[in-house]
Amino acid sequence: MSSSDSNPPKLNRIVVLISGGGSNLQALIDSTLSTPPALPNSHIAHVISNRSKAYGLTRCSLSSPPIPTSILNLKTYLSQPSSTPRTRETYDIELASLVLSTSPDLIILAGFMHILSPTFLALLHPQPDSPKIPIINLHPALPGAFDGANAIPRALDAFEKGEVKGTGVMVHRVVEEVDGGEPILVREVEIVKGEKLETLEERIHKVEHEIIVEGARRVLKEMGRI
Ligand code: GAR
Repeated sequence: MSSSDSNPPKLNRIVVLISGGGSNLQALIDSTLSTPPALPNSHIAHVISNRSKAYGLTRCSLSSPPIPTSILNLKTYLSQPSSTPRTRETYDIELASLVLSTSPDLIILAGFMHILSPTFLALLHPQPDSPKIPIINLHPALPGAFDGANAIPRALDAFEKGEVKGTGVMVHRVVEEVDGGEPILVREVEIVKGEKLETLEERIHKVEHEIIVEGARRVLKEMGRI
């Protein structure tokens, strides 16, 4: 038997950053565990939350095997005594070093409600020509439409005022500009006249659960990892 026969291929280490319910994290977990796996040769190696009460953390402990997690909350971090001043900038440095300590092959922001600073990105992507660990983000709007928080209610509101015909979701590469990186996958979502916010949210989440997996698959494929 050759050494390549005896050594199974190294699993792609996916590190997911969350803030809340983690339904998209669950879609990613399921995609690595299904038979056959939608995301082959990959596992969710670590989950980082900036909120201690995020239900996504419970999903990690319920997963089999359990997924290691870390919590790094901005307010808690800023309030801790320290010999050097703590700022939002130093929080992002701490977050970058936490992410790097998990040795990710791919970083996915799945409902991570914290704007990453240029410092964070510079630590993850140090040299313009060095190999970069891809960072992708899921956002519940079409490119350039409703950047930032509360994109779904803002889209519904704009639809009711006749300003937009529909909405959508996208997976995009993370750059300094919030929700502004190159889209990897975009799906339009219809808004039905008179529809309630909860119904639209539910339909959008269903699409998200598909495209977050497909977006991750595309990036890993492009890297030659699957
Ligand atoms: C998702 O709808 C995601 O697109 C959104 O947060 C939700 C997280 O849901 N992200 C953003 O708005 C980022 N700007 P989940 O915790 O159930 O996966």
